[in-house]
Amino acid sequence: MEKRIPLATPTMHAEEMSFIQEAFDKNWIAPLGFNCDNFEKELCDYLGEGQHGLSLCSGTAALHLAVKLAGVKRGDVVLCSDMTFAATVNPVSYEGGVQVFIDSERQTWNMDPAALEKAFEKYPQAKVVVLAHLYGTPAKMDEILEICRRHGAVLIEDAAEALSAAYHGRACGTFGSYNVVSFNGNKIITTSGGGMLLTVRPEDRNKAFFWATQAREPFPWYQHEEIGYNYRMSNVVAGIGRGQLLHLEEHRERKTAIYRRYEKAFRDLPMIMNPYLPDTKPNFWLSCMLLDENCGVDAMELIALLGQHNVEARPIWKPMHMQPVFAGHDFITAGETAVDEDIFKRGLCLPSDIKMTEQEQDYVIDIIKSAF
Ligand SMILES: Cc1ncc(COP(=O)(O)O)c(C=O)c1O
Repeated sequence: MEKRIPLATPTMHAEEMSFIQEAFDKNWIAPLGFNCDNFEKELCDYLGEGQHGLSLCSGTAALHLAVKLAGVKRGDVVLCSDMTFAATVNPVSYEGGVQVFIDSERQTWNMDPAALEKAFEKYPQAKVVVLAHLYGTPAKMDEILEICRRHGAVLIEDAAEALSAAYHGRACGTFGSYNVVSFNGNKIITTSGGGMLLTVRPEDRNKAFFWATQAREPFPWYQHEEIGYNYRMSNVVAGIGRGQLLHLEEHRERKTAIYRRYEKAFRDLPMIMNPYLPDTKPNFWLSCMLLDENCGVDAMELIALLGQHNVEARPIWKPMHMQPVFAGHDFITAGETAVDEDIFKRGLCLPSDIKMTEQEQDYVIDIIKSAF
């Protein structure tokens, strides 16, 4: 195919420009303003559960402020999802915390509650858990929340990939004490770059606002008693977010339809699609496949084959405990062997762009089938 079929790219509509235009018309070209305020309110109304939002320049910035709010200090052990993007866990290092990585389970590919329980036995002093919902599939929240509660630990929920997904009817991004979503260019809705920190505690939202705006104390002059950051979202960018939010459900429906088409087409192949629990509603941000063991097809070779046909596919996130930068960090599994190493080895992410036509998806499907 001449045209490249991408993994996931932004899909814009008409409203984004009108919110941007309004910012220009009012000359609100600043990292604050009515689009930021309204974007926060509109997203929190959408999510429910009494969240207060703070719009920021990235999901990573939001995770950093979440780690600070959770009180992570130099040397503190933080129990983290292992199979995720590095941005989930890097902010722990910004504050000098020490990540201990937790293996995945097979039903959702997310943090395994049994491994988390084992980690608390080994590190009873751990007071913070950072959990990501991989590829928009909700994790086993009941079990994880119960374990956190029992051990008096604060949960940071990284819902960067999971906006509009729900677990037992409750939106991802509302379960933790501190929650994060991302509007990076490849996410289900985007502001080109951006993120939001969410919490039910207005005082914590205000503290994060203070840090995100250079930690300026309320004095007539510039007074600083803490280290601050320049993390706020621009009022122009927030306008894109407001326009995108109007189409979030539609994006989720398109993502779901793409997943279902792959699922149907691959029914007879020796593989499974990325799994999820009944009574949960993934947003299917990325459709992924896990090849059966000894099926004769190698994930990296399949990615290369798709690449030769101008189709973008990617490996599953390489687990953090396998990353050179985290060499020496502990990694806890429930059983004898690592589940996530196996998923990484046999899995791949498929094109999930919501502008992909049925004809283009059939093209991808045919290449994959030809490999078996
Ligand atoms: C799971 C996860 N966490 C965090 C991030 C970081 O978000 P951002 O790119 O907005 O900083 C991303 C994506 O980029 C992600 O996929």
